Amino acid sequence: MSSTRISLNQSTLNMCYIRRQFLPDRERSLNVKISSGRVTRASLNVEVESPVEKAASNKSKEAMEAAAKFLVGTYARAPIVLSSGKGSKLYDLEGREYLDMTSGIAVNSLGHSDPDVVKAVIDQANTLVHVSNVYYSVPQIELARRLVESSFADRVFFSNSGTEANEAAIKFARKFQRHSNPNEKEPATEFIAFTNSFHGRTMGAVALTSKEQYRSPFEPVMPGVTFVEYGNIQAVKEVIRKGKTAAVFVEPIQGEGGIRSATKEFLQFLRSACDDAGALLVFDEVQCGLGRTGCLWAHEAYGVFPDIMTLAKPLAGGMPIGAVLVTERVSSAINYGDHGSTFAGGPLVCQVALATLHKISNPNFLSSVTKKGEGFKRKLAEKLGGKPHVKEIRGLGLIIGIELDVSASPLVDACRESGLLVLTAGKGNVVRFVPPLIVSEQELDQAVEILTSCLPILDESSSSN
Ligand SMILES: Cc1ncc(COP(=O)(O)O)c(C=O)c1O
Repeated sequence: MSSTRISLNQSTLNMCYIRRQFLPDRERSLNVKISSGRVTRASLNVEVESPVEKAASNKSKEAMEAAAKFLVGTYARAPIVLSSGKGSKLYDLEGREYLDMTSGIAVNSLGHSDPDVVKAVIDQANTLVHVSNVYYSVPQIELARRLVESSFADRVFFSNSGTEANEAAIKFARKFQRHSNPNEKEPATEFIAFTNSFHGRTMGAVALTSKEQYRSPFEPVMPGVTFVEYGNIQAVKEVIRKGKTAAVFVEPIQGEGGIRSATKEFLQFLRSACDDAGALLVFDEVQCGLGRTGCLWAHEAYGVFPDIMTLAKPLAGGMPIGAVLVTERVSSAINYGDHGSTFAGGPLVCQVALATLHKISNPNFLSSVTKKGEGFKRKLAEKLGGKPHVKEIRGLGLIIGIELDVSASPLVDACRESGLLVLTAGKGNVVRFVPPLIVSEQELDQAVEILTSCLPILDESSSSN
């Protein structure tokens, strides 16, 4: 990077955070954030490095070097260090602003620093944080009551994450089969899951997760899982067996797998096939549930109801939680000591989840998600439909995917450099949008603009391969 060559004097620069961006025409530009907080974009066609920027960028560099030294290398992280957020905006250590279309992988549904979430955290932290499940605590009971009142379920078990919720669902399904078939020497223990599924990383949940490379280094994982093509009714007919199949696990809308929606016919078929085989139907709504589709539960739009539903990501406004919602029939198979968790359902996380659920379950909030999602998809189709490399734009509400005929990584990187955070999904060829549900229409428009301006990067990267 060259030294300063612009007419702004150094004292002005010293007052500013400097941000270099890709503009749509890919010329160099600056965002100059005046200390009052007002952001002015100036297109200067120069390369600038102020002393402020240099000192600041060292902070990120140092953090990333320390991460490389001290953290187990399980993540290929994007090279930014995020330090604060407000609404749909995130800021890195240098004060660069990003429009967040990831919400922590479908977690921060109310955005960053939502005032009600913040208040719930502070008030409850000042009151009671943790007591274990040796004792009762009111926020846990109230959260279970609210979840039951707003769903098909009769009872709730709390966990700390999505994979743990699925792990509990696996155990509940096996126990249910044992309990319901007391005279069977070998009650049903097997599971059916689907291509492109993602259910988590622990030994049971990963066994239900379709990607071979997530499972094979850790084998043997839980045995007895058969993978069937998502949406293929005939293939399910061929493998579901009374006395063998304990449960069928399915995401009504697959997230990691590439934003693929089940059809109504498929979910209806699974319901009746499970009933015929005495198997349980488990909906994993860890990513697609709790308002993401514009319905409180993704399965509502299908009019098909499960025996078990697993939840996690958005439930506590960014704090770790999982939940397994079950019918009375399933719950009656579970006894003291069958499952448990030290941390799960603690007063702090449950109080924050109550605040989150209260906001998201408001019908006006849910219809705003539908409206914003429809507008977003329409604009994406207008701007990107028919463009090279764009195969399909799909999804519901604010879980939207753009399937490409090439890897999405160069586009995701270019968007990030232009101040827009998006995710990949599928086989790395899908751009995934799971913004905070409070995102504004203007922010969604801005995301479409940045994405459109960055799209030509795909030509460059595919021609250089
Ligand atoms: C559908 C689904 N199930 C389960 C999980 C696992 O959740 P966690 O990462 O909280 O364990 C995920 C995570 O992405 C998911 O998308």
